[in-house]
Amino acid sequence: MAKYTHGHHESVLRSHRWRTAENSAGYLLPRLTSGMTLLDVGCGPGTITADLAAAVAPGRVTALETTEEALGLARAEIARRGTGTVDFATGDVHALDFPDDSFDVVHAHQVLQHVGDPVRALREMRRVARPGGVVAVRDSDYAAFTWFPRLPGLDEWLALYQRVARGNGGEPDAGRRLLSWAHAAGFTEVTATSSTWCFADDTDRAWWGGMWAERVLESEMARTAVASGAATRADLERISATWREWAADPDGWLSILHGELICRA
Ligand SMILES: C[S@@+](CC[C@H](N)C(=O)[O-])C[C@H]1O[C@@H](n2cnc3c(N)ncnc32)[C@H](O)[C@@H]1O
Repeated sequence: MAKYTHGHHESVLRSHRWRTAENSAGYLLPRLTSGMTLLDVGCGPGTITADLAAAVAPGRVTALETTEEALGLARAEIARRGTGTVDFATGDVHALDFPDDSFDVVHAHQVLQHVGDPVRALREMRRVARPGGVVAVRDSDYAAFTWFPRLPGLDEWLALYQRVARGNGGEPDAGRRLLSWAHAAGFTEVTATSSTWCFADDTDRAWWGGMWAERVLESEMARTAVASGAATRADLERISATWREWAADPDGWLSILHGELICRA
């Protein structure tokens, strides 16, 4: 399995916990109806999972993560919300431990960019989806992030992130490649769209910039960057300070592009 670049440090989880089905799976929501069964691959801390569970209730949702430790975060979120229709499983998207045709919908948000073989992952997602069901994936595209002002430290951040993510076996510029991966996996009916997140007011900038200022110093990515020789601690400190500078700038603006697919299984 490719190494998961971000890890599950609090600074990473803060960004994942902000996610809702509305801001992260809007392309899928109109397809969901009460009673459907759904698999959420790489569910992370489970905030999107919980929203999807509400959309398909009383249909059951399975939340899947790579380890019990990671799955514990989703268990806590689902328990906190009192959602009674979610089951939990550990596994690897490359070789899912479910029979063929198990789910109406198989969903993965920001997962394919981290896996070693996204085409195999998509084939596996299709196998466990029932014929005529839906495989839905959404991934950001780092090279398509755009921001103002053009601070050199943020260009450094992007180059470093891409290098570390690829070193871990992933593809950070995944959004633009999703459609090609789905075709290679054998899907013939695919609807490809894109959508963005935008961080531009004081609160959003403080949240996103502050989160990356910390992530670049404390997360698994930071450890890998230093251990692999891709960056020194001083580089990371400089990049972190640049994120804080961007966050404090009232003109600061950042948009994140995501590719998204609805594939007919
Ligand atoms: C960026 S997080 C996204 C979490 C959640 N879907 C969300 O958007 O909030 C990617 C997740 O995929 C999981 N993951 C990485 N490789 C995986 C694999 N081979 N199979 C299943 N999950 C994987 C990671 O553990 C991580 O929690």
